[in-house]
Amino acid sequence: MSRIFSGVQPTGDLHLGNYLGAIRNWVRLQDDYECIFCVVDMHAITTWQDPDGLQASTREVTAALLASGIDADKHTVFNQSQVPGHAELAWIFNCVARMGWLNRMTQFKEKAGKNRENASVGLYAYPNLMAADILLYKATHVPVGEDQKQHLELTRDIAQKFNNDFKCDMFPVVEPLIFGAATRVMSLRDGTSKMSKSDPSDLSRITMTDDADAIAKKIRKAKTDPEPLPENEKGLEGRPEAANLMGIYAALSDTTLDEVCTNFGGEQFSTFKQNLADLAVSKLAPIQDEMRRLMADPAYVDGVLRGGAQKARNMAQPIIDEVKATVGYLKP
Ligand code: TRP
Repeated sequence: MSRIFSGVQPTGDLHLGNYLGAIRNWVRLQDDYECIFCVVDMHAITTWQDPDGLQASTREVTAALLASGIDADKHTVFNQSQVPGHAELAWIFNCVARMGWLNRMTQFKEKAGKNRENASVGLYAYPNLMAADILLYKATHVPVGEDQKQHLELTRDIAQKFNNDFKCDMFPVVEPLIFGAATRVMSLRDGTSKMSKSDPSDLSRITMTDDADAIAKKIRKAKTDPEPLPENEKGLEGRPEAANLMGIYAALSDTTLDEVCTNFGGEQFSTFKQNLADLAVSKLAPIQDEMRRLMADPAYVDGVLRGGAQKARNMAQPIIDEVKATVGYLKP
């Protein structure tokens, strides 16, 4: 069975975009792959994190994964910093990857912004750590969004250069798993920008901790346009808000956008929004209830992560030992 590795940043305020864009897809991979899901706290500290906040977010994301249906017994769920192999392999990859490769990374340029001189060295080397995450387990498939494709290309380059430099066949060529109909959930206030936790408007996103009233209110207040809903997908062109709301409906109801158009074409937004709110509440409430239950029991969540980290260390150990021997480190 092929092995999957994927990572999620521990950010608080998980929202519908995180759920429909990533977490839900992970849940569905569990039947077909051996899965390793990692809460990447080491990646998180490449930008400043309040220490208490980081702990809370690590638990919140873990709770969301478990509540959404990730099976931590069958698969492996842990936080990165509990497995030293990530840091060890990342250092070796810092010495394999070339400055020129990292200089091309668009995410660093975006995240560092104008003030590059003041970005952490960790933020610059972030893609090397990501390559280490994946290759520490010789994972063959990585589910990622569009924004991580370049980092995955780099992972392949690093694997190949390592294999070449040391004349070995250590690392596999990693394949991205891009979800065909991956739902890109946009802001409820602006259908052209991604739903994001950093949007100053609370009304722009539905979070995994919103209750039914909040969800209904945010959908009711979501931006629309004056036309009734279109009867086919083509009619969504140039109507980003309609496309977003109908896309969310399709994702939550597991149908196609085309079907949603067929069912709601010609309706007013007010009717559709009522339906969407009911659907969102019915789909999210059970997950949210379970998440709240788990977040009230941090000892349990910590136990799951500890167990997952033990499994991850066991998987990583023979691989990191082999890598160290290949590089020429003396055995301890
Ligand atoms: N960089 C990814 C993100 O920001 C998170 C991540 C870290 C990751 N390590 C990974 C994703 C390994 C896939 C595989 O979303």
